[in-house]
Amino acid sequence: MGIPLKYLLPLSVFLTGLLILLIESYVQKNIAYEEMAEENIQQAKIVGNRLTSRIALESKSNGIVREKIVSLISPYMADTLDQVDVYDEDLNQLFTRSLSAHKNHKMSINLETSKKVLQEQFSHLRYDKSSQHVIGYFPVDLQIKKGEVNYRNTGVMHLVFDVSKANEETGRSILNRFLLNMSIIVTMVFSFSLLMYFLVFKRLNALHKATQKLSEGNFDVYVESKGSDELTHVIATFNNMATEMLNYKETMEEKVEHALKERTEQTKLLIQQSRLASMGEMIGNIAHQWRQPLNALALLVQKLQLFSQRGKLTQEIMEENVTKAIQIIENMSTTIDDFRDFFKPEKQKELFDLKEVVHDVMSLLDASFAEKNIKVDIRIEQPKCEIYGFKNEFAQVIINLLNNSKDALNEKNVKEGKISIVGKLHKGYVALDISDNAGGIPEEIIERIFEPYYTTKEEGKGTGIGLYMSKMIVEDNMNGRIQARNAGDGVAFHMTFKKFEGKNT
Ligand SMILES: Nc1ncnc2c1ncn2[C@@H]1O[C@H](COP(=O)(O)OP(=O)(O)OP(=O)(O)O)[C@@H](O)[C@H]1O
Ligand SMILES: [Mg+2]
Repeated sequence: MGIPLKYLLPLSVFLTGLLILLIESYVQKNIAYEEMAEENIQQAKIVGNRLTSRIALESKSNGIVREKIVSLISPYMADTLDQVDVYDEDLNQLFTRSLSAHKNHKMSINLETSKKVLQEQFSHLRYDKSSQHVIGYFPVDLQIKKGEVNYRNTGVMHLVFDVSKANEETGRSILNRFLLNMSIIVTMVFSFSLLMYFLVFKRLNALHKATQKLSEGNFDVYVESKGSDELTHVIATFNNMATEMLNYKETMEEKVEHALKERTEQTKLLIQQSRLASMGEMIGNIAHQWRQPLNALALLVQKLQLFSQRGKLTQEIMEENVTKAIQIIENMSTTIDDFRDFFKPEKQKELFDLKEVVHDVMSLLDASFAEKNIKVDIRIEQPKCEIYGFKNEFAQVIINLLNNSKDALNEKNVKEGKISIVGKLHKGYVALDISDNAGGIPEEIIERIFEPYYTTKEEGKGTGIGLYMSKMIVEDNMNGRIQARNAGDGVAFHMTFKKFEGKNT
């Protein structure tokens, strides 16, 4: 049922009290009415007996005289006696009298009862509940005068008592009692409710509010409760539980924070590791990058030697070639600087230009890609596509993707390898697509390539952390998204970054 206990309990107490009261009143009323009827009958009997003996006595000396009977019955008539009839033994009416108000409603005698009373010489009384009358039949000795002769006769006196007034009083006293009991019950229910409110419901309410807070995740709750009753124990247990939960939550938060920190540290370490791993590969790239300038330097030196042998080495030729050599050496030095910069750990996020990073990366890689006959096509839209994050980490992502394409093209022996790098600004996003023509990734494994240590390469050739790292850098560190799909005759990696809206833009 939907009724709250705080209403249901007093209501049920009240209804139970009311029911008991009604039953008790009903029983009491019946008992009272029965007692009253009995008393009325007794009273009527006394009056009847008294009257019959007086009438008998009177008629003995003077015969039955109307005036005499009237004077005998009149004191009773004022009280409850309503009607008096006297009949002789042949049931001829000798006398009748009733209260003026009831004259028209005179009660006639019951012949059968009258005959029985005459026969048995025993009075008969009954209480008529519906009309609230006591009707009595009494045998009476009469001396009836006929002319000058008195002769004896046994008659019947019929008396009717109106007891409705007396009944009314009884009814009133029952009602009064009912009202008294009722007010006792109401007072009881009221004090019971008050008691229940302060002892139980007020505290239950506080407990309920606290549990609600708890369910909303607010563990910092405490319910006040004094005393040593059962509810106090429940509340104390609840408070303990809340404290435990709060402690538990705090410990958990600490643990989670710790775990997150650890994870961040591990991620950093992984990034560093993977960067170091590609360092070896990059040194190979530098070798490629330097091959052409080294050749050029060698040629210059040979040229100078030749001029010198022929005695044609003028100051002018010398200076021209030294300038050229210095230029070449500077370029080679820049490659080294780029390489060193790339492996420097970064402390702060910054806003960088996508085009710039891609060109920096390509300046380190283009020689080795050219050697493998792989064409890298770069199209990055103007105005500037700017991204916010760690620049070198992002460069690492591009290197990972380019190296994967290079590996795939190499593995599949694609004669004319092509990699395209397309950057665009699109509805508040910077989008970067890197795709190749190395045949793509089988659909059944494409879901797994971002998993850590997932690789299809032979042992020693791949660790399987390249794409895992890249995803972590893009999604966790730079708030971007990276996805892979097969498109055309290869794979397309699609990256998006929210356009930087900070104070630098
Ligand atoms: N461009 C691509 N074409 C075809 N397959 C690719 C391409 N890029 C990635 N894959 C597949 O995804 C796998 C996972 O790549 P990921 O870079 O994570 O690891 P790896 O290259 O195998 O090893 P690592 O990069 O750690 O040296 C690769 O082994 C390869 O099967
Ligand atoms: Mg890889």
